[in-house]
Formats: sequence, structure tokens, C-alpha cells
Amino acid sequence: MTSLAPLNGVHAIQFSNNQLTLLDQRLLPEQETYIHYTQASDVAQAITDMVVRGAPAIGITAAYGIVLAALAQSEESTLELEDAFHVLAKSRPTAVNLFWALDKMKSTLAQVQSHSVSEQISALLKTADTIHQEDILNNQTMGELGASLIEAGSQVYTHCNAGALATGGYGTALGVIRSAVANKKVTHVYAGETRPWLQGARLTAWELMRDGIDVTLSTEGAAGQLLRQGNIKWIIVGADRISANGDVANKIGTYNLAVLAKHHGVKFMVVAPSSTFDLTILEGKHIPIEDRAEHEVTHIQEQKIAPENCPAINPSFDVTPNELIDAIICEKGILTAPFTNKIHNLLKAKG
Ligand code: MRU
Repeated sequence: MTSLAPLNGVHAIQFSNNQLTLLDQRLLPEQETYIHYTQASDVAQAITDMVVRGAPAIGITAAYGIVLAALAQSEESTLELEDAFHVLAKSRPTAVNLFWALDKMKSTLAQVQSHSVSEQISALLKTADTIHQEDILNNQTMGELGASLIEAGSQVYTHCNAGALATGGYGTALGVIRSAVANKKVTHVYAGETRPWLQGARLTAWELMRDGIDVTLSTEGAAGQLLRQGNIKWIIVGADRISANGDVANKIGTYNLAVLAKHHGVKFMVVAPSSTFDLTILEGKHIPIEDRAEHEVTHIQEQKIAPENCPAINPSFDVTPNELIDAIICEKGILTAPFTNKIHNLLKAKG
């Protein structure tokens, strides 16, 4: 079954005929290649290897990974269902949507534990589909909410890729930008290239150009000079995990942009569904930050750009403190500073 059409025709994640199909995001924009998966362990590896990336997309993919593990149990099982939860949870550490989605799948399984294997499979598939479908709906809602804050005729800057590729479809930060472009509020988008994986250059520019949205690519070092010129009104980004006080873990370089934005009087918006909030973590400094391999920094794709054996650091995310954030948009509403009580009330009040 499945495969809900995301609004702009980008199919990063599809599930049909008992198989998961992922658009290989490592190869974009040069190649649009799809990889098919039937084993949960391969799905976990695909998440680690960045075939699929972006917090909500990782969660949706992991949910379908559990469906595959349940299906395999009815044939020759390569991985016990319990092990599949474990292996998928180890695939990447920062995006809390992964653990949120796995928890949802675990609750579904607990409810149908005494049912037949085929009933278990359909219950798990239904939950995975719901996670996928609700993510697209949430993005549309956040798109409208975020766009309502933007003045007509604005230029904006975004970082990494928080678009259709990073979600079930439409996007979080790019969802706001899509809605704001449709409402004539945003006239131009600057995309920061986002070293080392170049999600801004390879993915955001690709997505926006496919939609006919005016986009200009910027090196990360050019951001300060660009903001100083005074034409950019908002920086709009996604999130991988938001702590109870509104600190935001997102792609490395987000914090730099937030500091620059404050200095230049540019507003800073974070767009993330409620599945990205982690109320068990009180402050951002406790959010686990993924460290990736040094060669991702010393090489661009396979090309070496640093001296042999040059050490490199590669934290994949940073934490932006809440005081640098003007608005956090979630599908349940718009949050502004001071965040702690508002986050608690909004997330708890509406379930
Ligand atoms: O390493 P990535 O590409 O998974 O990092 C992605 C980001 O940091 C995104 O901004 C975040 O996940 C939000 S995606 C809607």
C-alpha cells in the first residue's frame, strides 16, 4: 500500500509492495537514483550513510524499517523485531524524531502483541503510514503559520535542507518558504551551501529550483556580508531536537547564523513539528551531538582537499540557545520567547 504524494512531487520515501524505496540523497542533484530495501538492518545503514537524512524523514524511514522487520519475521527472519528496534535506534543519535517514531511503533506492537503476525504487520504499516501522512499535513500547517510572520516582499536565508527531502513532503523551513512564496511574502531565498555534506547546495537549491523559486547559493562564510547588506529579513531553519527551554539542535553552522542574525537585527525562525521536541531534556547542552568521520571534512566527495593525515573535527549539529530565536513554529502553534512555559503548555495541552 502506501506512498502518499508529497505536494511538490519529490518522493524521498515510498513504501509499496512490502518494500521501502529511498531516493539516494547522496547522489543529488547529479543523479535521481532510488534504492529498494527489504531488511531493517539495511535501512538502519541507509540512515547512517545519509541515503536519507533530515529529522522527520529519518523517523518515517525507521518506522517503515520496523514494518520490514515484521514482514521478515513471517518469512526467514534475519533480524528479530526487538533487534530491529535496537539497530534502527543506533543509526543516528541527534534527531529525536527517530526515537519518537520508534516509540510509536513499539506502542502499536504492544497493542497487537497477541494478534496474528499478519495483523501485527498491518497495524505497524498503518502506524508508519500515519506518521508519514501526518508529517506532510503538519508541514502544510507550519508553512501557513510561519508565513504569517513574514512581511510582504522579504528576502530570506536558509541553512542545510529542511525541505521535502528531509521530511514526509513539503518541508519544515522550506514549507514556510513555499507558503510564503505562494503568498508573495518571500521574493528571494539564499541557501547556505552547508559544509561538509552540502545539503544547501545539492538539495535545497535543487528542490527550490524545481519549484521555480528564486534561489541564490551562498558560501557559509558569505553569510555575515550578506546579512550586513540589510535585505534579508528572516533566517529560517529546521531542527533535529528542541529541548524543554527552546534551545535548538540543528545542522552545524546554525548557531553561527543565529549569532550573526542577532548582530544584524535579522529575525530567526525555527520550524519543527512537535515530534522534534524533547521535553525530557531541559537544556540544549544535554542534547547528544553526532560526531561524524573526519574524512567528510578532509575530502569533498572522494577528492582530498587537506594534507594527508590532517586532523579534522566534524560535529554534525550545534545548539542555538533560545535567546537567539525569535519564533519556533510547530503544527500546534507559534512559540515566542520566553519559551519554557509556552512549549510545555502547547505540547501538553493539545496532546
Ligand atoms: O545531517 P542531516 O542532513 O540529517 O541534517 C539535517 C538538518 O539538520 C535539518 O535542518 C533538520 O533535520 C531538520 S529537517 C526538516
